[in-house]
Amino acid sequence: MHFDRLWLGGRLATLSPAREGLGLIEDGAVGAVDGRIAFAGPASELPAGWTAGETIALDGRLVTPGLIDCHTHLVFAGDRADEFEMRLRGETYETIAAAGGGIVSTVAKTRAASEAELVEGALDRLDRLMAEGVTAIEVKSGYGLDLESELKMLRAARALETRRPVSVATSLLAAHTLPPEHRDSRDAYVAKVVEEIIPAAVGLADAVDAFCETNAFTPAEVRRVFEAARAHGLPVRLHADQRTAGGGASLAAEYGALSADHLERTDVAGARALAAAGTVAVLLPGAYYALRDEEKPPVALFRAAGVRMAVATDCNPGSSPLTSILTALNMAVILFGLTGDEALAGVTREAARAIGRADEMGTLEVGKACNLAIWDATRPVELAYWLGRNPLHSRVYLGELT
Ligand code: NIG
Ligand code: FE
Repeated sequence: MHFDRLWLGGRLATLSPAREGLGLIEDGAVGAVDGRIAFAGPASELPAGWTAGETIALDGRLVTPGLIDCHTHLVFAGDRADEFEMRLRGETYETIAAAGGGIVSTVAKTRAASEAELVEGALDRLDRLMAEGVTAIEVKSGYGLDLESELKMLRAARALETRRPVSVATSLLAAHTLPPEHRDSRDAYVAKVVEEIIPAAVGLADAVDAFCETNAFTPAEVRRVFEAARAHGLPVRLHADQRTAGGGASLAAEYGALSADHLERTDVAGARALAAAGTVAVLLPGAYYALRDEEKPPVALFRAAGVRMAVATDCNPGSSPLTSILTALNMAVILFGLTGDEALAGVTREAARAIGRADEMGTLEVGKACNLAIWDATRPVELAYWLGRNPLHSRVYLGELT
């Protein structure tokens, strides 16, 4: 067998479901052919007579699948440092939104920005994620809230893939909040999302997301959005049970959603529904932390029910100004009580499911994209251990060192 490139002598965390736990392999090898994994296993099992265009010694380093940030709002204009300061003085996310700030203040800036400006702003944040081993990200729209601006955001998100060695999955989040011009015509806005924006986003969006919350959209409105997504063949995801318990997890599960996200206030029925539907629970400790939330997602319940858990940054200018996936991992173990193994699975194998790309990425298995994160570390838990120290040694995207 001839490999384009072969890495030898590493400690592999394959995340292969065929192996136990993280699927650790000592003295492992990974071989790439045409950007795909052609071999991942113990070096002793390499096919006899192998050859390679290039051989790279790993010197015992830990190799994981490239990390996947499966929930971000990476594309936006401006910032909300002013609102951060208001929250430090005691105002809440909700009082600020009710006074005309919050998501809609980012909407005004994002509408005014050009597509090129949005791309440049997002690249700054993307580079920080990539420097920590991220090889795939999900990016949502949701700061446009009109046809043109939502499509502009999705195009900007897609453009990131042409500017950096990274895979981008896009989600249309037109149902993020009511745009100011529809304050007195909620129904007309939901109709616009259903009849105009979703059909126009086919081909640009990989999924449809919504924010089910008292100050965003009701379960009945979310259903209308999800029905339209279904009619256009788009999978759904949901910002669910974040600030109030609204049956969001159960609603997401009912539609076979790829993921339900946040989930600080999900109940037992919601957890069971997620498990039964195979919907991934995406935990977003950055938002929990920055909003000083007092409720945590019911991780023990998820574990007992057999819910798959992913971890992401939720990078956005309001609730989670977090551009570090490793910090999200640290928060997931320290604040939410995930094990180191669960946290790593949450930014690899389970994150791949949450973006609907489990066949493509998220584990070190033959046939998947050869996206690797190589770490100056030996134990997987070291990724979650340090705060502010980045143990990434190198990053491989589609078989190429980047
Ligand atoms: O995931 N929860 C709703 N949406 C975002 C926040 C967006 C914002 O505040 O700008 C979130 O936390
Ligand atoms: Fe979000």
